[in-house]
Amino acid sequence: MGAYVITGGSKLSGKLKVQGSKNASLPIIAATILNCNKSHIKNVPDIKDVHVMIDILTRLGADINFSGNELTIDTSKVNSWEVPENLMRKMRSSIILMGSLLGRFGKAKVSYPGGCEIGPRPIDLHLKGFAALGVKIKESHGFIYAETEKLKGANIHLDFPSVGATENLMLAAVLAEGRTVIRNAAKEPEIVNLQNFLNKMGCRIKGAGTDTIKIEGCSIDDLKPIEDYTVIPDRIAAGTYLAATAATRGNIVLENVIIEHIEPVLAKLREMGCSIKSKDDKVELWVDGPLKALDSLRTLPYPGFPTDMQAPMMALLSTAEGTSIITETVFENRFKHAEELRRMGADIKINGNTAIVKGVRKLTGAAVEAKDLRAGAALVIAGLAAEGKTVVEGISYIERGYERFAENLRTLGAKIENLD
Ligand code: UD1
Repeated sequence: MGAYVITGGSKLSGKLKVQGSKNASLPIIAATILNCNKSHIKNVPDIKDVHVMIDILTRLGADINFSGNELTIDTSKVNSWEVPENLMRKMRSSIILMGSLLGRFGKAKVSYPGGCEIGPRPIDLHLKGFAALGVKIKESHGFIYAETEKLKGANIHLDFPSVGATENLMLAAVLAEGRTVIRNAAKEPEIVNLQNFLNKMGCRIKGAGTDTIKIEGCSIDDLKPIEDYTVIPDRIAAGTYLAATAATRGNIVLENVIIEHIEPVLAKLREMGCSIKSKDDKVELWVDGPLKALDSLRTLPYPGFPTDMQAPMMALLSTAEGTSIITETVFENRFKHAEELRRMGADIKINGNTAIVKGVRKLTGAAVEAKDLRAGAALVIAGLAAEGKTVVEGISYIERGYERFAENLRTLGAKIENLD
């Protein structure tokens, strides 16, 4: 499985260029299926989830080259609409292929998605939305068979602004007959990045970034190759490095960030007492006094505080003065890291979807296990701040989303080694 061995206590210090966004890259890669042509995409992070997506597209018949964070995908020879089960199980977000496959072939066969262990992650909103677009769905023995003669534009109201459902429905609706309106759509920046990619291809989408997205369907023959498109910076990776720096009371300059995207995280770090300066695509954070607990940290859909930053912030708050209250409203059962943090001396009580975190004077190194991607990052943060040695097992989860994580932290002065 692999592990990190961390000797805590070194302050992080230095400069780092933030990777491209995982959650923007995955739907954009799925979108390349639509144009039966070449797409050239830059700033793609070299992480496990991207490699799984590349493997799936290759199995479907795409010709792909990935080097130096640049991805060229030729989907002209894609001839299968069945996502291989073993690959689908490796990554929950492979469900995002359904929209593109329905757009291109009018059919898709996928298995129920795998992914992080962060509570039930149903796909009912995706399936209801597809049904509204005229797709017939059959579920049998763990597989989903979806088929339609012709996708038809529809008015769709999502019960919850699901990121994945919004993206999946956009991917199908761009090739539907007529107009689709998605209401209560997710507003995350990754959805805007997907809209811009699709529009560059020739699709007609408006409204991403607001709660109403309007899509005028077009024909597959209208779609063009993409000569050059750049994925946005990863706001969660940026937030993770900021939280790690704050936990070690260090200082950092992050480059390649979109300040607006990380504002919900910056606001909370400022409230804790971190000093922050930002200009253009750079943000600087340093700590020169004690860090205070947060009365309330509540995860919400964007532009609220991101659920993906909840675990890294819990690690940081474990070292702050006073008692913090964290409320997780996006995912059930996303507090598994609390138990591992407790092994390191953190004082955390869980009550339903609320965590009460009493700051301790010092965390202590321990053997812990990453149970999902962001929980893994949280344990590394705790290890960097702790006294003594921490061994974090299960780093394959961390490598799903963070590019050169240990190497980047070492550049900043951390003592972290890979153990095979
Ligand atoms: C995406 C992100 C993930 C992030 C999450 C919330 C990617 C690849 N992943 O995941 O990192 O944590 O957004 O910001 O972009 N839900 C339903 N039915 C559905 C779909 C979702 O009930 O059909 C519920 C989920 O169980 C969850 C909530 O809606 O409680 C949010 O999920 P969603 O926004 O869909 O997250 P993902 O797209 O899976």
